[in-house]
Amino acid sequence: MSKHNQKEVERRRTFGIISHPDAGKTTLTEKLLLYGGAIQMAGAVKARKAARHATSDWMAMEQERGISVTSSVMKFNYRDYEVNLLDTPGHQDFSEDTYRVLTAVDSALMVIDSAKGVETQTRKLMEVCRMRNTPIITFINKLDREGKEPLELLSDIEETLQIECAPLSWPIGMGKRFKGTYNLYRKQLHLFTPGQETRLKDGVVIDDLNDPRLDELLGSQADELRADIELLEGAANPFELEEYLKGNQTPVFFGSAINNFGVQEMLDAFVELAPPPSPRETTSREVSPYEEPFSGFVFKIQANMDPAHRDRIAFMRICSGKFTRGMKLRHHRIGKDINVSNATIFMAQDRTNVEEAYPGDIIGIHNHGTIKIGDTFTDKEPLKFTGIPSFAPEHFRRVRLKNPLKTKQLEKGLIQLAEEGAVQLFRPVINTDYILGAVGVLQFDVIMSRLKNEYGVDAIYEGIDYATARWIGCEDRKKLEEFEKKNQANLALDAEGNLAYLASSEWRLGHTAEQWPQVQFHKTREHN
Ligand code: G4P
Repeated sequence: MSKHNQKEVERRRTFGIISHPDAGKTTLTEKLLLYGGAIQMAGAVKARKAARHATSDWMAMEQERGISVTSSVMKFNYRDYEVNLLDTPGHQDFSEDTYRVLTAVDSALMVIDSAKGVETQTRKLMEVCRMRNTPIITFINKLDREGKEPLELLSDIEETLQIECAPLSWPIGMGKRFKGTYNLYRKQLHLFTPGQETRLKDGVVIDDLNDPRLDELLGSQADELRADIELLEGAANPFELEEYLKGNQTPVFFGSAINNFGVQEMLDAFVELAPPPSPRETTSREVSPYEEPFSGFVFKIQANMDPAHRDRIAFMRICSGKFTRGMKLRHHRIGKDINVSNATIFMAQDRTNVEEAYPGDIIGIHNHGTIKIGDTFTDKEPLKFTGIPSFAPEHFRRVRLKNPLKTKQLEKGLIQLAEEGAVQLFRPVINTDYILGAVGVLQFDVIMSRLKNEYGVDAIYEGIDYATARWIGCEDRKKLEEFEKKNQANLALDAEGNLAYLASSEWRLGHTAEQWPQVQFHKTREHN
């Protein structure tokens, strides 16, 4: 690869934010975009969230799909870096996409509300990061409010998420007594003034904590800080880049997103520490981002703004080589070449036609339903990227047609929507039901509305007593047959014909797994 292209790879940072609703993801995203000069985009992020709050009605949400496509990938420049921030939808629109986006990033930023500590959605997203040992930087937010003690927060993260914490900044008080942070590796004090968007340049360099200036600036809290730092030096883990890059350790920052406090400090560390595009596994070999030939995979498909055209945008993460407009790419699953003349690159303000893009970048390709999640595109070599799985659903519904004559349309619609990754489809082995599985319940509303609008199918949902699913694997054919016979009532085939076990509870699943030690129960499944 040429020196120029190599540099382009090295300066890219592609990441996602993992957090629980209300921890401050939107606020922080907005501040990050402002640092990157993407002012218009920052407004759109907030507007999108406001729209979500105003309505849970999918039809109304469809009208703002435009914003939703644009803010799926937010690109901005910071210092010499090109940053791609991939949106991890949360709240009502939490879905399998949220998980899958994390398979396309090189690192993640974890936002935690200092009053709440680690919450459920963060825990789930962290599990996905674990699959690829994604490096994670932590931002503990809302220090301007009363929260848990910093040490308690660190041990909560360590225990709940099984990751070592290495604080790189340390808060001085909290809530009304919040005075700022002390940057442990730069040995700088950042003072907090409520209501003011404090910038990093306000940092006061204090190499020696016994410096009397500390007492002048912090009053009685100076001694508290000294005591904290002394305690930390004995108790906390020193930061080790290698451990962070392996996903074993997370550097921790404290701040307040809404006051823009501690954000730039964290962003500076992020661009310096976070890894550039990493090598990716395929079924045949590892692909380095520095290879000359182009390669990429599709991790998300989004229905476009005009439902009448059934146009979809496939989001492709570039893994190697350089993309140029008009390039011919081979779509390996269907064995066809496509000419990519109208690819979209996700620029901060706008969607623009791509002229060129590099590993770590995301491009959007228009398609009419031929592209599936997990598809690989290269300029020649037949490759198949791995690690873009389906995730075991946690919510289930049975679909009932209002008009039985529409069975064919229903089936077609559900298969296409399943291919797109919008929902998972299961057909029980003992009957002809259609069972849908989702990671977030809003997926069901979306499917109903799209079935009606795009396929002309009127259907309704019925609740069904399943709470979890696992894909089945077993080397021993005889055992598998025996297992199938005994568990017929709980077995179904997914849209690609893979056998899955649907269980009414985690307990039930655990019990069955215990009874059948030769059978594997997989929580994820790779696309064929
Ligand atoms: P999310 O995307 O993770 O769901 O969180 P979001 O940024 O929307 O923040 C959730 C709430 O927390 C918002 O308040 C936001 O203003 C507030 N918040 C974010 N960062 C901080 C912080 O550093 N300190 C304090 N005190 N609050 C913070 P809201 O009342 O729900 O919404 P809004 O009316 O302020 O928009």
